[in-house]
Amino acid sequence: MKRIAVMSAMALSVGMMGCATQAGGIGGEDASTYMTKSFKEVIATSFQAKGSAGLDRLVQTEAQHECSKYDYLGKPIPKDIAARIEKDHYSKVVYPADGKYFGDWKAGMKIAESGKGMTWNDKPGTPNGGNCINCHAMLPNNPSQGNLGPSLVGYGKTRGNSEQIVKYTWARIYDSTSFNACSQMPPLGASHALTPQQMKDVMAFLFDPQSPVNK
Ligand code: HEC
Repeated sequence: MKRIAVMSAMALSVGMMGCATQAGGIGGEDASTYMTKSFKEVIATSFQAKGSAGLDRLVQTEAQHECSKYDYLGKPIPKDIAARIEKDHYSKVVYPADGKYFGDWKAGMKIAESGKGMTWNDKPGTPNGGNCINCHAMLPNNPSQGNLGPSLVGYGKTRGNSEQIVKYTWARIYDSTSFNACSQMPPLGASHALTPQQMKDVMAFLFDPQSPVNK
């Protein structure tokens, strides 16, 4: 995995969800050479469930499994497998029930800057952060932002706010695997890491002309 500039507790837990190169998966099958029996035993005996951090996090999704497998083999994932995974994920994107895509950009900025949540000692029900700036530059002239993902500085200003771009951005945040089977961006909506309202706030942070992203 590439280096992330700013590390936080959530980066680690989200990394478990998002990293295709994360080896493991208690429930995974031995379809690829890296998932040997002894390897699976090491994984199974090395982790304990604690708080909200259950062992289900060690079970890879199909996308993670396929992407890890081909990464291990040093080959690109076959186009037909990638396309099938992307289509499947895209078909499950849930758009806002009220048709409104934008909340409060100030709340969205806090969510984008926070890497908190989903660790074993977080109280269940406490809102999570989105951890966006751990991977993306979003604020102009701020050196403490990650570069694993592309810069989103000026996002709304440069992309506009057509229905197409708004829905694309929502789907991207909801489940990035819909566009790239081996995306390293965690599925923030599909995993319920962010609530629909939090996603709307983050959308406003990206698109609102008053947001520092577009200044
Ligand atoms: C673990 C790293 C990571 C985190 C956390 C993350 N992203 Fe991403 N994001 C990426 C990567 C990598 C891409 C590049 C595309 C891909 O993977 O297919 C991306 C792509 C995107 C894109 C598409 C950019 C384009 O040019 O079309 C948007 C929009 C986006 N991310 C927004 C967000 C927002 C908003 C958050 C927080 C709620 C977030 N990301 C959190 C890694 C991350």
